[in-house]
Amino acid sequence: MLQFETKVDVNKLKGKDFLTLLDFSSDEVFYLLELASKMKKEQKEGIISNVLQGKSLGMIFENASTRTRVSFEVGMTQLGGHALFLSPRDLQIGRGEPISDTARALSRYVDAIMIRTNSHEKVEELANYSTVPVINALTDYYHPCQGLADLLTIYEHKGTFEGIKVVYVGDGNNVAHSLIIGAAKVGMDISVASPSGYEVDPDIVQKAQEVAALTGSNITITNDPIEAVTDADIIYTDVWASMGYEAEQKDREAAFAPYQVNRELVSYAKDDYIFLHCLPAHRGEEVTADIIDSPHSVVFDEAENRLHVQKAVLATLIK
Ligand code: CP
Ligand code: NVA
Repeated sequence: MLQFETKVDVNKLKGKDFLTLLDFSSDEVFYLLELASKMKKEQKEGIISNVLQGKSLGMIFENASTRTRVSFEVGMTQLGGHALFLSPRDLQIGRGEPISDTARALSRYVDAIMIRTNSHEKVEELANYSTVPVINALTDYYHPCQGLADLLTIYEHKGTFEGIKVVYVGDGNNVAHSLIIGAAKVGMDISVASPSGYEVDPDIVQKAQEVAALTGSNITITNDPIEAVTDADIIYTDVWASMGYEAEQKDREAAFAPYQVNRELVSYAKDDYIFLHCLPAHRGEEVTADIIDSPHSVVFDEAENRLHVQKAVLATLIK
């Protein structure tokens, strides 16, 4: 079980939104990781929690999901609460009801709202009008639940963040943004290699650099995948065309081909490197089957950890 020396006023986190890891101090990130680890251990020991008994989570999904939907719904059940799956096809937002009215109406029924949508602005608007915590379950910009699960997985496999180099190869997308911020928060070194034109947002790098100046992590952004992967402890990749970018698939295949995580590229990493991917993965595109299905790959530990970190987030934020 993870244990850090954190000084966190947990009461101050009640009612807070979870839109990006930038909104949480390093200590708060460590606190959530520690709580997730404790909840994971207790669940495996068969200890039943009722910490969210009588509480409900509304889950708005404008995009497809396997892991996020199931882990949030199961997480609420395991904590004694209840989750409602809300698709825009069934909600009045699908017929043009403003997100601000939806936020205010849902706040009268549920104790937290989780949303997956392409537009980060929409999540911010939902949070502005909601009186209960809003949790970002992926936007075009961030995937903070994934970032937190990635940190837990790395710590479990490497036993520390200190002196660890995580390398993200591929599209400078939502997952990459949350990984950079997460690494900066916990003081871990990160290198990101993307093709020209597909780099991470410089504003996010700037914000992460400000955090890194306090925690001591080194952030390197490059177009050279070999330079990035050299001496990596962790290699991470994600799909070349995220949800909402499917029309660019063909152009992206050409740009991203030299960034495929394959046997040749991983030969530059440390012998005991681990491979991460948020999933779903496209074998033969961003990663070859022999890598994602190798003993180095811990992608299903990573997927499992979505459940544990989200339970920690729910238990912490819901009043
Ligand atoms: N990694 C992740 O968020 O997976 P889903 O799209 O299946 O939820
Ligand atoms: N970057 C991917 C992550 C899916 C979990 C997407 O946005 O589609």
